[in-house]
Amino acid sequence: MAKGRKNGLYEGVSEELSSLMRTGWAETEQHDLEPAEQSPYAAARRAALSARFPGERLVIPSGNLKTRSNDDTYPFRPYTGYVHLTGDQARDGALVLEPRADGGHDAYCYQLPRDSRDNDEFWLGATAELWMGRRRTLREAEVVLGLPCRDVRAAADDLAAAPGVPTRIVRGHDPRLEAAVTTDEDRDDALEEALSDLRLVKDAWEIGEMRKAVDSTVRGFTDCVADLSTAVATSERWIEGTFFRRARLEGNALGYGSICAAGDHATIMHWTSNDGPVRPGELLLLDAGVETHSLYTADVTRTLPISGTFTEVQRAVYDAVYEAQEAGIAAVKPGAAYRDFHEASQRHLAGRLVEWGFIEGPAERAYELGLQRRFTMAGTGHMLGLDVHDCAHARNEEYVDGVLEPGMLLTVEPGLYFQPDDLTVPQEWRGIGVRIEDDLLVTEDGNENLSAGLPRSSDEVEEWMARHAG
Ligand code: GLY
Ligand code: MN
Ligand code: MN
Repeated sequence: MAKGRKNGLYEGVSEELSSLMRTGWAETEQHDLEPAEQSPYAAARRAALSARFPGERLVIPSGNLKTRSNDDTYPFRPYTGYVHLTGDQARDGALVLEPRADGGHDAYCYQLPRDSRDNDEFWLGATAELWMGRRRTLREAEVVLGLPCRDVRAAADDLAAAPGVPTRIVRGHDPRLEAAVTTDEDRDDALEEALSDLRLVKDAWEIGEMRKAVDSTVRGFTDCVADLSTAVATSERWIEGTFFRRARLEGNALGYGSICAAGDHATIMHWTSNDGPVRPGELLLLDAGVETHSLYTADVTRTLPISGTFTEVQRAVYDAVYEAQEAGIAAVKPGAAYRDFHEASQRHLAGRLVEWGFIEGPAERAYELGLQRRFTMAGTGHMLGLDVHDCAHARNEEYVDGVLEPGMLLTVEPGLYFQPDDLTVPQEWRGIGVRIEDDLLVTEDGNENLSAGLPRSSDEVEEWMARHAG
């Protein structure tokens, strides 16, 4: 809980209590710390950033706690660009790249260090360690991060004291640091773009973390299938809770709010209320991802027949989406345009929708006009990593208009969504939503489906459910 509470029971602090609190504490400096595993990788990422901005100071804040009410705060999630460049997750910090005369940069990190026990801050202050937990000393942070560290309480003064250095800051994360520097909004936006560009290709350590995220997610999906009979007796919330338990047990949390969408909720792209019934005979669309302790997330969807077997119409929709995903996955390879997998999936779905008579053909004309989008709704995928929609600020020419390279990691997630009130499709198709989403690593000669541990075809899904469903 953050300080700032009203209606406390005690009005003041006696001198005697104050001095009682300041005494009798053990020295707890940690002398056996090791550099974090990712610190050499973070150093290489900083070097790549440095090369793009010679002669300029770059300030990348980690962000501050957000108040929920009174002295309660939302869970803290550090700014993704800061995590990528430091491996750190501390709040109220900032990475600074200070320009050198030779065009390179010296990096250092501002941190909120431990509270002194020589005053009352440690138990009465706004960020009191006694309430919020022990922080690292600056020396401890230096060892773990492999970076010189400074006290963030001096940062605003330090930065304001050198106004002549051309500076960029990532905006929107730390108003106090933003107020201390004079920057230009467009140039700041270009820094944020560069940080997104830098994350497009994952390094070996990141790929290892992504494997962990996906493997935990596969186990979370299996938990949900094993718990399906309890979900039928309760609601979608049971599935949400089951997946969440796996995410907290094996990782940090969820990479995004789980979509546990049974029946016609599956046609709502961002259904996260998860408070509806789970009825045999209907489909369950489960879109969920475990976020690792290092904050990398998976993003996987499976659409399951709640009774264990698809009806004829459900299977027709499912198989069309599966074939569209196969076409999309085949288009994920180095040198392919980023748009290729999207276009391959969408073309296939446009063809099926024309065959079914739901949109006017011929199929190529329907595709060119985008008519399939009434039923496919979203793009077919996105980059994945520290953010579920990773690299969102990257330049178009690097991302949506770019070319796939080994080390890129993306989702392929075609879907068909027939709204419950859509009069252009037969009654028995209304309220069916199907998405199949996998996490693909671009390799030297094609791709690797990291989420291949879950079944994808309709037959495999039924067989898997028969083995695991509780
Ligand atoms: N779960 C969000 C998405 O699939 O993009
Ligand atoms: Mn996705
Ligand atoms: Mn998803």
